[in-house]
Amino acid sequence: MANKQSGHPEALGPITSGIPKNVRGKRGTKHDVLVKPGVTETAAEPKAEFSFNLKPNEIAKHLNRFVIGQTEAKKVLSVALCDHFQHVRMTLEGNVAQFYQKQNVLLLGPTGVGKTHLIRSAAELIGVPFVKADATKFSETGYVGGDVDDLVRDLLRRAGGDVKKAEHGIIYLDEVDKLATRGESGGRDVSGRGVQTNLLKLMEDGDVPVVSPNDMTGQLQNAMQAMRGGGVPQAETINTRHILFIVSGAFSGMDQLIRHRLIQTEKPTKVQRMSVDDLYTQAATADLVQYGLEPEFIGRLPVRVACHGLDSDDLFDVLRKSESSLIHQYERAFAAYGIEVEFKDEGLRRLAAKASEENTGARGLMTVCEQVFRDLKFKLPTSKVKRFAVTAKLVDDPVGELKRLLKGA
Ligand SMILES: Nc1ncnc2c1ncn2[C@@H]1O[C@H](COP(=O)(O)OP(=O)(O)OP(=O)(O)O)[C@@H](O)[C@H]1O
Ligand SMILES: [Mg+2]
Repeated sequence: MANKQSGHPEALGPITSGIPKNVRGKRGTKHDVLVKPGVTETAAEPKAEFSFNLKPNEIAKHLNRFVIGQTEAKKVLSVALCDHFQHVRMTLEGNVAQFYQKQNVLLLGPTGVGKTHLIRSAAELIGVPFVKADATKFSETGYVGGDVDDLVRDLLRRAGGDVKKAEHGIIYLDEVDKLATRGESGGRDVSGRGVQTNLLKLMEDGDVPVVSPNDMTGQLQNAMQAMRGGGVPQAETINTRHILFIVSGAFSGMDQLIRHRLIQTEKPTKVQRMSVDDLYTQAATADLVQYGLEPEFIGRLPVRVACHGLDSDDLFDVLRKSESSLIHQYERAFAAYGIEVEFKDEGLRRLAAKASEENTGARGLMTVCEQVFRDLKFKLPTSKVKRFAVTAKLVDDPVGELKRLLKGA
């Protein structure tokens, strides 16, 4: 994914389509926000304030439209999101709970099985500002790479400068397994530990200055603005008490640690029979700590759930049933040249089978489709072919089928 390479946080504002009537906006506050140093963007008003009325089952239903499988993750995530946002709503209505433990979530699971897809789809539904970034882009000092506080400032940007809105957004941090510093993981360096420490206060209850201390232009602008107004520079902050943190990672190799731990207490034959997916569902604090994460960090992630790998049948469903299926993208691309594509089930099965050999989850579908459709995409737009079917034969021999199609036309 592009954001993986660039290391920039990927952010997403609320969408409007498909959002049930029980999620609605009210008036909020307005705030100026620095988009780039020297560029000020003023949020349009009135801004939406927060109103949340979804039930866990409604969130899970919405997720079912886009994400195949991952039933347990959908359930756990829906409950955590409802708990969190019902709490936020009640707090904003003045009904403040005396004790509340934030339901930050840890998602485990291999690459390309829908972790990001789940979180993104849920954030779209709830209509809260959402920021995604890879944990690897941060450094302890914030000078090289970035500062974890930037995540919160990015959330403010996604909220159009509305501090109140940003204060109940979702921050999604991927690749947290790369922050592991010791143990069996062969973690990178001590910096990962520092990043975890910096995240601790954000995950619980911290205040982040709207303008980064490292942002000289922003600091200067702030001071000048204050001088013009005849006052002292304002230190405006964003509070993180109601920001939900969701973190994820593949934690590859942790299955061995889990198996090793289970063998001490359970029947060895039973443990030996457990699949990698089964083992990840048993992940406990001890395993994560042994993997190299700090107990304080893990302790702030009470909700944990494992995503399973996608087999060939799942990948078929991803193509056939998911509303975000790649086949719609191909249909559109060919339709742009007036070409109609018919995806036969046998063709989809063959694509899924090939993709599962890639071992990159649903990402394998992209790789396989790109190879299969490469020549067709190049040649068909300038040919007389106006329609074709994606059969198993075409998937196995796209070049041969292309020749046949061109001859037929
Ligand atoms: N279970 C699924 N159902 C439908 N589509 C999926 C599923 N899993 C993955 N996809 C598709 O594959 C793409 C990549 O998946 P996603 O980004 O969610 O992977 P991930 O689990 O976050 O992997 P990584 O650990 O590498 O970040 C998604 O954009 C989506 O189109
Ligand atoms: Mg991801």
